[in-house]
Amino acid sequence: MKRVGILTGGGDCPGLNSVIRAVVRKGLKLGYSIVGIKNGWKGLVENVTVSLDERSVSGIIHRGGTILGTSRTNPYKKPEDKQKVIANYKKLKLNALIAIGGEDTLGVANKLNHEGLNVVGVPKTIDNDLNATDFTFGFDTAINIVTECIDRLHTTAESHQRIMVCEVMGRHAGWIATYAGIAGGADVILIPEQRIDIKEVCNILNKRHRKGKTFSIVVVAEGAQFKKGDMILQEEKLDSFGHVRLGGIGNQLAQRIEEETGFETRVAVLGHIQRGGSPTAMDRVLGTRFGIMAIDLVETKQFGKMVSLSGTKIVAVPLSKGVAKIKTVDMKLYDIAKVFFG
Ligand code: F6P
Repeated sequence: MKRVGILTGGGDCPGLNSVIRAVVRKGLKLGYSIVGIKNGWKGLVENVTVSLDERSVSGIIHRGGTILGTSRTNPYKKPEDKQKVIANYKKLKLNALIAIGGEDTLGVANKLNHEGLNVVGVPKTIDNDLNATDFTFGFDTAINIVTECIDRLHTTAESHQRIMVCEVMGRHAGWIATYAGIAGGADVILIPEQRIDIKEVCNILNKRHRKGKTFSIVVVAEGAQFKKGDMILQEEKLDSFGHVRLGGIGNQLAQRIEEETGFETRVAVLGHIQRGGSPTAMDRVLGTRFGIMAIDLVETKQFGKMVSLSGTKIVAVPLSKGVAKIKTVDMKLYDIAKVFFG
């Protein structure tokens, strides 16, 4: 019997279960047995698996997170781990492996494909910063959560005549901040792609308040940096892909704004709230379409490919293209956001 493995790696993301469900449902129809690998690459290093059938994926489309579990394990950190991954792939008698993840997970998938494993990638991240796909699933859910939070911050900001700084996720790219900021009517949006000029931010806020507004909303991505100064780190510890844990820019920004403008300023750090909970209908459908395409690529032996959204179509692109660079915010979109600053 044909056997395909499936794993989810990196930060979880609403819509992962839609992909798993689609791979299993279509895979079974194509005559595959489906091996769920637990907790990302860690499960392939340790050979921890679960067999997936129609029952295992019943009632999961509306659930956030991933039924397979996830981790930020990098099997290329230790040569013996990479060897274990290759050995377990063979031991499990897999014809192919579907890896669902972001730049790190798919980076590993790409390397393993070059080592001779049959790998297909599915792009996932709430940050929407994966290259070679117009959107990743999880992003729509995240921006809807953030937009609702901004709406909520508006009413409390207005009542107290305060500035509210809302810190959102976005390690290298400010897609969440830009989309949710536009949708939520933010007065300033700050993203990793553009250094923060605190004087300019305060000028915008002062001008707005001179116009008679008594409150403001500032949305800042966690990876944004001041003009002079480094990234705001939450912890010095690095994960196995060498990433630091971010978070803290919101507090620093609020302090600087309050000092410079004299307006009372508060912070809301949304953190993992943006990543939890049920996926939106858009993300369920995108995840489903990605999953179907992924198993079709396995069936037609198109390995080393990543499924991708191009306009309204699902296409296949080389995995190497997906991980070649980070997709940063389109400055034309940021210019649209800027029209509403102040
Ligand atoms: O990669 C997605 C992301 O949501 C980033 O925006 C954020 O920095 C990171 O995950 C946080 O992940 P965790 O705290 O779960 O490791």
